[in-house]
Amino acid sequence: MKICVLPGDGIGVEITAQAVRVLEALGLSFEIEHALLGGCAVDATGDPYPEATQKLAQAADAVLLGAVGGPKWDGLPREQRPERGLLGIRKQLGLFANLRPAVLYPELSNASTLKPEVVSGLDILIVRELTGDIYFGQPRGIELRSIDGVQQRYGYNTMHYDEGEIRRIGRVAFEAARKRGKRLCSVDKMNVLETTQLWRDVMNELAPEYPEVALTHMLVDNCAMQLVRAPKQFDVIVTGNMFGDILSDEASMLTGSIGMLPSASLDANNKGLYEPSHGSAPDIAGKDLANPLATILSAAMMLRYTFALEEAAQRVETAVKKVLAQGYRTSDIYEPGTQKLGTREMGEAVLKNL
Ligand code: NAI
Ligand code: MG
Repeated sequence: MKICVLPGDGIGVEITAQAVRVLEALGLSFEIEHALLGGCAVDATGDPYPEATQKLAQAADAVLLGAVGGPKWDGLPREQRPERGLLGIRKQLGLFANLRPAVLYPELSNASTLKPEVVSGLDILIVRELTGDIYFGQPRGIELRSIDGVQQRYGYNTMHYDEGEIRRIGRVAFEAARKRGKRLCSVDKMNVLETTQLWRDVMNELAPEYPEVALTHMLVDNCAMQLVRAPKQFDVIVTGNMFGDILSDEASMLTGSIGMLPSASLDANNKGLYEPSHGSAPDIAGKDLANPLATILSAAMMLRYTFALEEAAQRVETAVKKVLAQGYRTSDIYEPGTQKLGTREMGEAVLKNL
């Protein structure tokens, strides 16, 4: 069980250190190696995703990533920017399935901007296709064209999916739904876009293979409304790259706690990249203030999806719940009456509860 840890920049170093402590405390035989990605890699080698990191990441079963970027590198040309490292590794590893849970812990229900009765107990999973759709479709561009006899700038992108791409993300979503609440909502815009008509057809064709999962369909505009009106109606949502980009950010903010949100990106063999949904938080970097729980929960997803260690995953998740129930908070989720901890102390609190 090889894990490649890429702390990255800013708080990435502090939060991955706590997640690694948790993984090591489980007493399983992980082989853990660290490498450079992002701004720190640019500083050391001039390349945001250097050869040595590529080798380690490709040889590993799973990658645990902190976050990359910061004001120090904002002036660099596009090719050398830290984000290039992130796009590079996602692409190289063929990570087509992005899993973003949005869970509202009862102790943190005040963090949401929605009424407690609307969000309390929220537990949804968005499965977003990550390597296709209009974000990657050809042809694309901005060019001068003669339109109605007038030279104008013309912008265009192409949305497309083949049925194989839809089927493989569909299977990931059905499998996830089978292990959770057994409800899957597929989101499309079939009334306007042919590509998403195919999406809906393929999802319907897969459904008989998963008789225990109830499949429904929803148009994306309605889904955006339902997520803020009555989000608890959802269990697992599956959708394409562009709709998933928007809906997963919307869903994550239902919880109000950016420091609590993990994510997983998987390839066809359950190799995965696991990272918190937040960035490198340069404003609090190096101050022992960052919340490590999103990264620790990302490590739990690694145990579940790459290593099929469901029991260990639940041990970690339960430890996190206990820490919250005991009243421990990092400053981003602090409320009067709770006890404020630093990044390292929060990691220790999780270890104690394991
Ligand atoms: P951000 O997520 O880093 O920070 C937004 C706000 O949330 C800040 O006030 C920050 O202090 C707070 N925050 C974030 N994570 C936290 C945690 N674990 N505990 C406590 N507070 C936390 O987003 P921002 O400020 O837009 O971007 C900062 C840098 O991160 C930029 O260079 C950006 O490009 C990069 N970034 C990297 C990502 C990645 O590596 N996947 C994703 C998003 C941004
Ligand atoms: Mg986004």
